[in-house]
Amino acid sequence: MSNAERYTRVAIILHWLIALGLLAQIALGWWMIDIPKSPPGVRAYWFNIHKSIGLTLGMLILLRVVWRFTHGAPPLPDHIAGWQRMAAKISHYAMYACMVIMPVSGYLGSSFTKYPIKYFGHTLPHWGWDAPAYKEICSQVHYITVIIFMVLIAMHFAAAVKHMMARDGVIQRITRWG
Ligand code: HEM
Ligand code: HEM
Repeated sequence: MSNAERYTRVAIILHWLIALGLLAQIALGWWMIDIPKSPPGVRAYWFNIHKSIGLTLGMLILLRVVWRFTHGAPPLPDHIAGWQRMAAKISHYAMYACMVIMPVSGYLGSSFTKYPIKYFGHTLPHWGWDAPAYKEICSQVHYITVIIFMVLIAMHFAAAVKHMMARDGVIQRITRWG
């Protein structure tokens, strides 16, 4: 396989780094919301870890989106059917949209509370204010986007397994660099 047929090294590294980070972040998110409010501090501690990891992933995602728009994607092999090309395109863009909306909605929601965000212990500038109605909208967007994203990931994973079984060279586009 030539380099023109696969993703660049940077795109490959970012794909796997972000994939691992997001899966861990989703697990952490679902786990932390059930932490009881007493004893005080434990819940806030894990929420701040979630916010810190989320902001870090947000920056990596920004880098990835910029890289994607400046470097494009390699053309798919000729034998891939038209509907599959379309499905890949739509689902990849939908995943990028979710990857942007999740950290942004989380950050905005957390800014519309009276608590400043602590990034791995460092208090970030708090430009927001205590606005429960805005916070609620952001929380809803965060929640719904996570659900949509999980459905997309399940489909993405199923497609990847299908390509692995077909041994059609699609997996190698994002797992090997020259
Ligand atoms: C949270 C997890 C994941 C996310 C957010 C994600 C997202 C994406 C996105 C957005 C693309 C399109 C890249 C582009 O055109 O810029 C892509 C490509 C790809 N992903 Fe993932 N991915 C994840 C996990 C996985 C896993 C677990 C596998 C394998 C089992 C996988 C296999 C692939 C493959 C083979 C491609 C290349 C498709 C092609 O050739 O066009 N991904 N992924
Ligand atoms: C990077 C991607 C992110 C993913 C995949 C993610 C995932 C999740 C998940 C699965 C939950 C539990 C379900 C729910 O209640 O919505 C959650 C909740 C939450 N997340 Fe995130 N999150 C991300 C980024 C962030 C960021 C950057 C912040 C804040 C700076 C944040 C703040 C919160 C908060 C405060 C909750 C508790 C529920 C709420 O108040 O909305 N998240 N997140």
